[in-house]
Amino acid sequence: MAEEKREQLLKALNAALGAEYGALWLLPQHMAQVEDEELKRQLKLIAEVELEHAEKSAQMIYALGGEPNADLPQLKPRRGVKEILEASVEGERKAIVLWTRAIEATDDPKLKKAFEDMRRDEEGHQRLLARALSRL
Ligand SMILES: [Fe+2]
Ligand SMILES: [Fe+2]
Repeated sequence: MAEEKREQLLKALNAALGAEYGALWLLPQHMAQVEDEELKRQLKLIAEVELEHAEKSAQMIYALGGEPNADLPQLKPRRGVKEILEASVEGERKAIVLWTRAIEATDDPKLKKAFEDMRRDEEGHQRLLARALSRL
């Protein structure tokens, strides 16, 4: 892999990893406010998937000879279920953009497929959260 492409891919992966950290930092604070058991369960399932995404991203960074150097993004925990769901839908939208960037940063079919799978997870989260928001 050309050095420039590798650097670009590492950058994209670290950006995606940072977004996963953000979700993992916000989710427990948001879950703590949710009383609806079904919604709480869904947020927990999302958190488990984001944890997997974070691990996979770090694994790929190491495999590319890089270091996971993402920082926790500047985020503000929300108060209230509506605000939480709105911010979460937006967070998933950003994650979709970041995975799209990672997909575009590689020609490796295996990596592309792995990124597409993660993007599909985020699209599922976005739909689920938007549906919960529309039910309020
Ligand atoms: Fe994720
Ligand atoms: Fe997600």
